[in-house]
Amino acid sequence: MQNDEGQSTQSIHHIVYCSKAAHHMDKEALEKIIATAKHHNPRFGITGLLVFGSGIFFQWLEGPKDNVSSLYKMISADSRHSDVVLLTKEDEFRERLFPNWDMELVAAEDISAVLEDAMHEASDSKQKSTLSNMLQELNKGPLGK
Ligand SMILES: Cc1cc2nc3c(=O)[nH]c(=O)nc-3n(C[C@H](O)[C@H](O)[C@H](O)COP(=O)(O)O)c2cc1C
Repeated sequence: MQNDEGQSTQSIHHIVYCSKAAHHMDKEALEKIIATAKHHNPRFGITGLLVFGSGIFFQWLEGPKDNVSSLYKMISADSRHSDVVLLTKEDEFRERLFPNWDMELVAAEDISAVLEDAMHEASDSKQKSTLSNMLQELNKGPLGK
């Protein structure tokens, strides 16, 4: 299916969760997670972003439903974080929000700017409203403060 700009839309499943990082989380440990994600995610058609700040993770995963669900299961069981809380789990017919990011690490202080940029660039209204909801959620939570 094509949208107004002629770009193709598809059924996209996305999961958003937050969690508490293990105590030993440092730059090196973070880079290891991102390297694993960048290695695995393209093979499973998964894109998204990982936010880290104040010991809290916030991750957006999008792609085919089965792949996103299996990855989320695997991530949830990872001992490098705990208290994994699922915030959103949804199927939508739209474009990917972060089509070029296999998994991008974003600092907490930059996340609002990243989401606002994505919202301004978004070409369909569903994308815009998803991002707007995400920003609102973020502004309520610990990462937005
Ligand atoms: C906060 C967090 C986010 C993660 N995100 C991803 C991811 O997007 N993709 C991925 O393959 N693994 C991710 N992982 C790592 C997985 O939990 C798991 O360790 C990895 O997929 C196993 O890969 P391996 O068998 O090659 O070590 C993440 C781990 C943590 C703690």
